[in-house]
Amino acid sequence: MIPDFLYGTAWKEDQTAALTELALRVGFRGIDTANQRRHYAEAAVGAGLAAAYRAGVVSRAELFLQTKFTYRAGQDHRLPYDPAADLSTQAAQSLASSLEHLGTDYIDSYVLHGPASGHGWTDHDAEVWAAMARARDAGRVRFLGVSNVSLRHLEQLAASGAETPAFVQNRCFARVGWDRSVRAFCAKRGIRYQGFSLLTANPEVLSHSLVAGIAARAEVTPAQVVFRFAQAIGMLPLTGTTDAEHMRQDLASRALALSPDEVRAIETLG
Ligand SMILES: NC(=O)c1ccc[n+]([C@@H]2O[C@H](COP(=O)([O-])OP(=O)(O)OC[C@H]3O[C@@H](n4cnc5c(N)ncnc54)[C@H](OP(=O)(O)O)[C@@H]3O)[C@@H](O)[C@H]2O)c1
Repeated sequence: MIPDFLYGTAWKEDQTAALTELALRVGFRGIDTANQRRHYAEAAVGAGLAAAYRAGVVSRAELFLQTKFTYRAGQDHRLPYDPAADLSTQAAQSLASSLEHLGTDYIDSYVLHGPASGHGWTDHDAEVWAAMARARDAGRVRFLGVSNVSLRHLEQLAASGAETPAFVQNRCFARVGWDRSVRAFCAKRGIRYQGFSLLTANPEVLSHSLVAGIAARAEVTPAQVVFRFAQAIGMLPLTGTTDAEHMRQDLASRALALSPDEVRAIETLG
């Protein structure tokens, strides 16, 4: 089961466990994290999950858990692997640590946090990608994903003959057609696009009269319009809100009806 909204756990530090549990109580069933202590407290996400299981809020089988492998360059000194080990070993060690943090024996989606180079898909990425696929084949992971990728990364990954990811997770800017070229690549190949920073990357959309007008008509907030729009164009949105009311609003946006004309108008705002 792949949920239609993901709750993101970045930047929550000592609030991580409580906010993860709260998100589950409010109704989120997809959790996004990373084994990157610099921005995420993955062990605390696991504590939040455990509290929700104990309280009977949800069971592991009802959840979609996503985490990431992050290269040394994206980490601080708190590494989930031996930096002297080869990359395949680092990916395996990071995954073993994630399974322990999250108190589970499988991850629903395992994501390469970002390619080694901004310019293209490298041999390092190919090595990690192959290690991730082996973990999937061994039953420790259900789906594979990549994050922070350009169209060029994806084209080179595909041209290498390696399998395409099940998910792409990118920061989504309205000014480039909401990541139009990457979304088009994904749509053609059956890859599910996950969008983050939908609110923070697009302040001009939130304050635009078109969005304000739809929000007023439907008696919702501009943020809810943006999240509903994202789903209407096939995206799986992320929210990392720390506010219980915003959690409820973000999930409630799923009930908002947007006309095809409204969707097209928002899609071409940028
Ligand atoms: N792959 C990557 O490299 C990467 C990078 C960044 C993020 N992510 C993932 O994406 C998740 C989300 O991150 P994000 O960058 O999208 O930012 P975010 O942490 O979701 O922040 C969104 C901002 O919007 C506000 N907000 C949320 N819902 C709202 C609503 N209904 N009405 C008004 N304001 C609302 C939040 O404020 P309140 O807290 O006050 O609601 C917050 O200031 C992260 O937790 C992480 O899991 C991944």
